[in-house]
Amino acid sequence: ASVLILNGPNLNLLGTRQPEVYGKTTLADIEALCAEETARLGLEMQFAQSNHEGALIDMIHAARGQHAGIILNAGAYTHTSIALMDAIASVELPVVEVHLSNIHARESFRHTSYIAPVALGQICGFGVHGYILAIQALQRHIVS
Ligand code: DQA
Repeated sequence: ASVLILNGPNLNLLGTRQPEVYGKTTLADIEALCAEETARLGLEMQFAQSNHEGALIDMIHAARGQHAGIILNAGAYTHTSIALMDAIASVELPVVEVHLSNIHARESFRHTSYIAPVALGQICGFGVHGYILAIQALQRHIVS
């Protein structure tokens, strides 16, 4: 089975972007950690990032038939994008929502997620390790 690990706006800047909030790990580092964990679990992986809402939607559509599930850190689109929510609902693939930071402990506008109602579950607040937890959760779901 294969999983899509999709990252939204500004996550390409990880490592230098507000390191006090998001840590010093780069997106390339996260990709390497995810490659290791998916390989360990016998999964294939596609890792992608876009700053564009429509490009993220296109990748979610394209995942149908290609991937068994999606791990999504939608960045700030989490809190704004009904279109991303509709895309996830449309493809009927299991989605695990991930955030590096604990969005519920931050500004109130980050407490709402348009992804959560259409996700299997949400992992937030554990930094980079959240991606590993998400891979494990998705793998359990896929094989069960
Ligand atoms: C984020 C949390 C979002 O609120 C924020 O807009 C991001 C990153 C996280 O991983 O903690 O861009 O998704």
